[in-house]
Amino acid sequence: MNIIRIKKYFPIFTTHKNLVYLDNAATTHKPQCVIDALTAHYAERNANIHRGIYRLSEQATESYDTARAQIARFIGARDASQIIFVRNTTEAINLVAHSYLRHHAKAGDEILLTVMEHHSNIVPWQLAAKEKKLTIRYAHITKTGELDMADLKKKITPRTRLIAVTHASNVLGTINDIAAITRLARARNIPVLVDGAQAVAHMPVNVSALGCDFYAFSGHKMYAPTGIGALYVSKKYLTTMDPFLGGGDMIRSVSLEGATFQDAPERFEAGTPAIEAAVAFGVAADYLTRIGMKNIRTHEKKLTALALKELSKIPGITIYGPTRAEKRTGVISFTSQNIHPHDLASLLDEQDIAIRAGNHCAMPLHTLLGIPATARMSFSLYTSPADIRTACRALRTIVKKLQ
Ligand code: ALA
Repeated sequence: MNIIRIKKYFPIFTTHKNLVYLDNAATTHKPQCVIDALTAHYAERNANIHRGIYRLSEQATESYDTARAQIARFIGARDASQIIFVRNTTEAINLVAHSYLRHHAKAGDEILLTVMEHHSNIVPWQLAAKEKKLTIRYAHITKTGELDMADLKKKITPRTRLIAVTHASNVLGTINDIAAITRLARARNIPVLVDGAQAVAHMPVNVSALGCDFYAFSGHKMYAPTGIGALYVSKKYLTTMDPFLGGGDMIRSVSLEGATFQDAPERFEAGTPAIEAAVAFGVAADYLTRIGMKNIRTHEKKLTALALKELSKIPGITIYGPTRAEKRTGVISFTSQNIHPHDLASLLDEQDIAIRAGNHCAMPLHTLLGIPATARMSFSLYTSPADIRTACRALRTIVKKLQ
C-alpha cells in the first residue's frame, strides 16, 4: 500500500496539510471516489426510488439496488435482499431489538451481552428488557482485555434468546472470535448479533463464514457518508421479523383498517432512504475491495504494533487491551498518570493531532476498568507510521512537561 498516494486521494489532507488524524474509530475521512459519487448522483441521477414511472427514477432505483449488491458482496452475504439499509449501526441494532427480540422474547427470557459493548449495543436491549421483563447477562473480560469465553459459555442458559457482541471493541481494540461464539449459539438455536462498526473497515469480514444472524455496521466508519449503514440478516430470521418503522415503500397494500407489508429488505425501509449516501456507500465498499481488506489489516496491524511500542516507552502511560497487535484492531486507549485524557487531547490538538478522549460511549467498561476516561488513538488505511511517530513524540513532550 502506497500511503502517500492513498492520503492524496483524501481531500481533507490537502485542505488540512498538517493534520494527523487518529480518530478513525469515531469517523473516517472520505476518498475522492465517495465525494464524486455523491456529486454525480445529484448531478446525473437524482430522483426518488421505487416510485417514478420515468427513466430518471428508474436510474436512481438501479443505483440504489446496485449499492445493496455491492454491500452484500463486501461482507459475503449470499443475497442482496439480506442487506437492510439503515442510518447507522445504532439504528440497525434498534431494528433487531424491535423487529426480532420484542416479538420473540417472553418475561424471564435472557439476552447475553459482553461488558465491552458500546452503549448502542447495550441501551436498545435495556429498553427492550424493561418493556418485556427480560434479564440481561454480561460476559466478562480477562485481565488482558479479551473476552472471557468460559464466562460467556457459562452465561448461556435455556432462557437465552439472543447473544449480542461486538466484533471489535471501540476501546480495547480486542477482536472477538465471532465464529467460536456462533458455534456455541447454533448448537442451542440462539441467534447472534454482531456489532461490526469497528471491524468492517479494518479486516476481511465474511458473514457467511462467521455464521452470525445479524451483522450491523455504519457507512461513515468505512469511508462512506454519515446517515447510511447496513444490517445483514440471515435467511432464517429475515422472513420472521416484523416491520420496524411504518410508512411508505414498506407496504404491499393499505386500507383504512390495516396494512400488509413487503418482503425484506423493503419491509424494513420505510420512507425515502438516504439514496445518494447508499450509492456512495457501495462505492466505498468497492474502493476497499480494490485496495484489499487483507492488505488493510496487515497495514493497520503494523501501525498498531508500532504505536504499542512507542506508547509503552512514554513514562507513566497505561495501555488498555491485548498487548499483541494480532489480537486487536488499530484502536489504542491509554491513560497517563496524573494527566486527564481531555487535557492530553486538547494539547495534542494544538499541534493538529486529533485523538479522542472520554468514555467512548462505553461507560460500563470504563467503570469496570476503574477509570472515568481514556485517551484513544485509532488508525485507518491512510494512517502512516510517521503519523504515529509524530503523535507519540508530541505526547512524550506533553507528558514530560505536565507530570
Ligand atoms: N462509536 C464511535 C467511537 O467509538 C463514535 O468513537
